[in-house]
Order: sequence, then structure tokens, then C-alpha cells
Amino acid sequence: MGLRHKDLVSINQLTGDEITLILDMAESFREISERLIKKVPTLRGRTIVTLFFEPSTRTRTSFELAAKRLSADTVNISKSTSAIVKGESIKDTAQTIEAMASDMVVIRHSASGSAALLARYMECSVVNAGDGSHEHPTQALLDLLTIRQEFGTLNGLKVAIVGDILHSRVARSNILALKKMGSEVIVIGPPTLIPKGIDSLGVKVSYDLDPVLPEVDILYLLRIQLERQGESLFPSIREYASLFGINKKRLQMAKPDLIVMHPGPINRGVEIAPDVADMRQAVITAQVANGVAVRMAVLYLLLGGVRDDE
Ligand code: NCD
Repeated sequence: MGLRHKDLVSINQLTGDEITLILDMAESFREISERLIKKVPTLRGRTIVTLFFEPSTRTRTSFELAAKRLSADTVNISKSTSAIVKGESIKDTAQTIEAMASDMVVIRHSASGSAALLARYMECSVVNAGDGSHEHPTQALLDLLTIRQEFGTLNGLKVAIVGDILHSRVARSNILALKKMGSEVIVIGPPTLIPKGIDSLGVKVSYDLDPVLPEVDILYLLRIQLERQGESLFPSIREYASLFGINKKRLQMAKPDLIVMHPGPINRGVEIAPDVADMRQAVITAQVANGVAVRMAVLYLLLGGVRDDE
């Protein structure tokens, strides 16, 4: 079984079975990263171009490592090195890359819909590594893998996503993915950071964290995306931290096996206290490690590699 689409732009393109396939495949790829020689020939001779028009450490590195561990050739184009700064459109960039016979483009861009647009223009596979406040599907997949490793299932869990839901592509992709796999999602934050109509995605909404905290299995914290906020949407960072920031005292109200997740980059002292970020219950490093495995699985399944390493 493979994936039905040539691209991964949105979680909506995947069925529950396809999500399970990606997670199972990722699980089998994890072991490669633990070897001394972290490389298999699976995607030898394939070319993957990563186009990152927004700053990124972990997502870009993790796509690049995933491609390299599968022996694909990679080229990275960032905003400053691309002809976009010279006025070239996405369509022309797509044609240029396609003319050089690349097999896949991974794109991160500040405009929502940019990945879908690129996918329309290109015959090769396009993977969305975050488009504006729309989606970030591989982040949701690596989060699902992390949750499944902790709880053994994705069904019937209660997940609270806390913070700047309005500007978060991570929240959107996670909501779609978690709902698809049978978990319950509640979004929590100040009213100005919760988009109107979010309940149409089948989530509950709360403007108050403390009453909900004792019921949840997973606390998924988000960064306040100040770079996306044109105006001030809440009184102060300090007030946000006191109402929604997670510290050890607040965690006393939670279930003992609660896990704390964060897509990074974390802002210690704002959404997460420094001592919580370093607690055993915080699985942030596991998320990062799973990012490489999940991206290996996505590249492999979209490019139809042959597993001759077994
Ligand atoms: C997120 C992103 O870029 O959307 N980070 C990530 O991919 N690891 C979240 C964020 O920037 O806060």
C-alpha cells in the first residue's frame, strides 16, 4: 500500500489508514538513526529540493537529514538565495526547479495556500513544511507518533492545545489528525487567539485552562507567534504566562501520566516554565527525534522508494 496523492499539503489528504501506514513506516525507520552509519540506499539517485522562505531550524534540518539518511540528493534554497527576492513568482520558481528534474520539493512559506499552489504547478511531489497559518502536516504526524509511543493508541485520548491557535498551522494540522484518529481535542487560550468558528472542526473551546487541566492526557503548548500578530492581542506576556503558562505548581492539578508537548521553538518562562521543559513528562526531544523518522517515511512513501536495506 502507498499513498493516494503525489503531494502532502494537508492532513485532509490522508485517510486514517494512510496515517497509520506513515506512523508504522516511521517506526521502522527510527532504527536507522541509531546506527553508527545512518544511511540506507532507498532513495539513491532521487533529488529533493527544500525551499525555505521562513526561518526554521528543526523542520529544515529534519527534512534534510531524512532525505540524506535515505541517500537522496538534497539542495536547499532559502529566501535570501532564491530568485523570489528578485521578483520571481512561485510559478516561475516551480518551472525552474522542475526543469532541473527534481523529484520532490519541500516548501515552507509565510503565505497560506502556497504549498497547494506549488503542487498545482508541479508534476513532482510537493510536501508542505508549513504554509502561513494554514497547515504543517508532517509536524502533526510526528506528534501522533510521539503520542502513540506514549499511550500505545491514538483513540479515545483527550488532548488540550493551548495558546495561539489563531496563528498556528501546527494546531490546525494536529486538530485534523487527532480527530481523524479518534482523539478528543479542546483548544484553550485567550479569546483573541482562538479563531471564530473553530468548533466546526469538531473541537471544544475553553478560555480557561485550570478547570480543564485535570481531565486531559496530553497538554500541547504553542508559542505566541508575535511575528504573525499585527496588533497586540492580549495585555502582556506576563499576564499570558500567569493564566496559560505551565509551571510545576499548575501541573499538580493534572493526571500523573499527563505528557507535555511543544512543536518548538519554546519560549521558556512564557508558555512553559524552564523546569517543566526539562521534566520527564515533557516529550519535546522525542518529538524532534520522531520528526526525522516521520519525514523519512513521508519521503519514502511519496517517492515510492525500494527498501533494499533489509
Ligand atoms: C512551528 C512552525 O514553524 O509552525 N515550529 C516548527 O515547525 N517546529 C511552530 C512555531 O513556529 O511556533
